[in-house]
Amino acid sequence: MHVYIEDIGKYETKDVTVKGWLYNKRSSGKIRFLIIRDGTGLIQSVITKDEVADPIFELADKITSESSVVLTGSVKKEDRAPGGYEIIVKDLQIVQLAQEYPITPKEHSVEFLLPLRHLWLRSKKQNAIMRIRHEVIKACRDYLDERGFICADCPILTPASVEGTTTLFEVEYYNQKAYLSQSGQLYNEATAAALGKVYCFGPTFRAEKSKTRRHLTEFWMLEPEVAYIELDGIMDLAEEMVAYTIERVIARKTTELEILERDIEVLKKIKKPFPRITYNEAVEIIQKKDKSFKLGDDFGAPHETIVSESFEKPVFIHHYPADIKAFYMKRDPMDSSLSLSVDMIGPEGSGELIGGGQREDDFNTLLKGIKKHELSEDTYAWYLDLRKYGTCPHGGFGLGLERTVAWICGIKHLRETIPFPRMLDRVYP
Ligand code: 4AD
Ligand code: MG
Repeated sequence: MHVYIEDIGKYETKDVTVKGWLYNKRSSGKIRFLIIRDGTGLIQSVITKDEVADPIFELADKITSESSVVLTGSVKKEDRAPGGYEIIVKDLQIVQLAQEYPITPKEHSVEFLLPLRHLWLRSKKQNAIMRIRHEVIKACRDYLDERGFICADCPILTPASVEGTTTLFEVEYYNQKAYLSQSGQLYNEATAAALGKVYCFGPTFRAEKSKTRRHLTEFWMLEPEVAYIELDGIMDLAEEMVAYTIERVIARKTTELEILERDIEVLKKIKKPFPRITYNEAVEIIQKKDKSFKLGDDFGAPHETIVSESFEKPVFIHHYPADIKAFYMKRDPMDSSLSLSVDMIGPEGSGELIGGGQREDDFNTLLKGIKKHELSEDTYAWYLDLRKYGTCPHGGFGLGLERTVAWICGIKHLRETIPFPRMLDRVYP
């Protein structure tokens, strides 16, 4: 019977078939140890010369790293083996004898591994990151689904910018111009008015002009949007969703966090409430360490790190100056130089994980913002319509998936948190 390695413990003393690839092997006298991986885990299999037919033992000598293999044998409890079980092999079949595998168990540089990303994904650490990524997606979606949010996806090909015109990827769309979506937000605002509580989850694109560890040109964003919500409610939602996600990953991905040598105690502290400070308060924290920072300036990565170092948990920074935020941000009714915006900065230098806020819901103010940012009124006519027909206070946020995964995994660079990273200088493989 074909079983997956992650389930092997259920088959103690039984005969099973495992289908996978050779991860590693070693030998000792008349015994060969083959470490097999099948994507769900690793298992040691033991081939003893006197207990199998000669051709099988010869295959064990011949087999190369990453050869595809099907083996059958009985499951034995073995505390010294990784995972606590091993297979005593009775039959072994090589599906394909792999050519000399370019990735060896020794340490390789990331520069060497990136062009081999299609193979690098098979390593134990990369496998653990992908499994945590999957859990983060599932946890966020479950959180929203269980609270009545409707997943209403937004187009990837769009005629308009959301987050400024300098990072747009332009696409020829028959005889007009289109862009790859920077964010589904504007469409989310339409579906939120139709459905109440919505989210979209998909790839988003930014033609980033600089090479940093926190920027991909294609990244995934989870964006909830709610009708009849205000800034505090938006922060409550973000805080709950993130705390829930962390709890789920700790509970269900312990093995993976261990493989990554992640300090779980640090993650266990991520419980609500998260601190909430204003932009002005954040500036005070920054100016204690960086005298050159001026009130009104936007934060760069080093400034975010200074703020996050003052807290063990993610921190919300709200009420940024309207001038450094996007055209759609609602102005603070108490001080129109400020916006009802909020970012969530992650701990341990993980940077801005979430960006969002309350949207401008007044037709004339929004139109003024569109003009001020020199955007075309025609392109946003449908978006302005939303303020003509039943406008209401509303808002939401976007959670950057790869930044969140990088933080949870304790990985500095985003390139390892997505199966095939797209960066300023990389679009292969
Ligand atoms: O702060 P941003 O630009 O916000 C928006 O796009 C809003 N329209 C979302 C909304 O309110 N629905 O992006 C949101 C998040 C950031 O906080 C960051 O985590 C991530 O997306 N992000 C990136 N991640 C990887 N590479 C990049 N180049 C990123 N740019 C933003
Ligand atoms: Mg942002």
